[in-house]
Amino acid sequence: MDVNTTEFSAPGKIILFGEHAVVYGYPAIATAIDLRAKSSVLDSSKQISTISIPDLFQKKQFELNQTPLPQELTALKFIVDSILRNFELKKNFDIKIASQIPSSVGLGSSAAVSVAMVASLSSFFGKSLNLEEINKLAHESEKIIHSFPSGIDTTISTYGGGIYYENGVIRELPFRISSAYVVIINSLIKRNTKDIVEKVKKKYEEKQNSIKEIFNNIHEIVIDAEKALIDENLPEIGKLMSLNHNSLKDLDVSHEVLDKIVNVLDKNGALGSKLTGAGGGGCVISLFDDFTKAKDAIKIMKEKNLQAFLSTFTTDGVRNESN
Ligand code: MEV
Repeated sequence: MDVNTTEFSAPGKIILFGEHAVVYGYPAIATAIDLRAKSSVLDSSKQISTISIPDLFQKKQFELNQTPLPQELTALKFIVDSILRNFELKKNFDIKIASQIPSSVGLGSSAAVSVAMVASLSSFFGKSLNLEEINKLAHESEKIIHSFPSGIDTTISTYGGGIYYENGVIRELPFRISSAYVVIINSLIKRNTKDIVEKVKKKYEEKQNSIKEIFNNIHEIVIDAEKALIDENLPEIGKLMSLNHNSLKDLDVSHEVLDKIVNVLDKNGALGSKLTGAGGGGCVISLFDDFTKAKDAIKIMKEKNLQAFLSTFTTDGVRNESN
């Protein structure tokens, strides 16, 4: 690899329990998954700095001082500006972003891109940040696209593994569900996290008591889920996933297609299923205690022209890929 190149990757995530309530300070449980976003930074051959994201914009390379940049790039421009401002360094560079994580479906792709980019760009300027600093700056950038993110997405992407997250405080939750199979089903319905989080906020302001009741139910589910995960009690984890999905339906963040997917999985051997992330489309996660049943469920979902795959977890958070 070119000596003037830095390359970092960061993982996507699934929220196992507690999405939405987590924005209001309630706890949630999430784990990093083995799909990664990569950010490479290299010396620019031109007199300008650029960014390219082939997954989003094919071959287009954007000049970073070009105004206005597409909406999708404003948070990344914020990262660039923050790093340049903090380090008072001057040299031109090209950033290339590549991601295995499908975007806008609740798997944490934007957080993973932000985390990988903070790490690669700061390292390019010879100032490696520690994990806390990477997470903090990535979280600041997420605020630009998601208005008031809880911080769970950037945290899980930075640190990896399984975590219990409450009000910005992280507790490592090294659960082993090695006897289980978690299937991710992508409904392929893209949605905007910001819109759904804002819809919940509006409801919260209008009907605080009933929304708090839903959040309290989710809180109890998360507490029971922590124990079930530690005990590797698969039937209980499955039951709690289904309960959590129902609470999210009560919150009106599900989607009829997601509910149908959950029903089909229930009838085909799943121990429990739920939407993951903001909802309104995006992905469902489903728990199985049997490999054949998990494989059959994947087949059924693929026959319905959905994406479905077995998820594998990772303990690796942000990772240096340059050598
Ligand atoms: C997004 O992955 C999950 C939400 O809880 C929002 C957040 O935590 O920032 C919906």
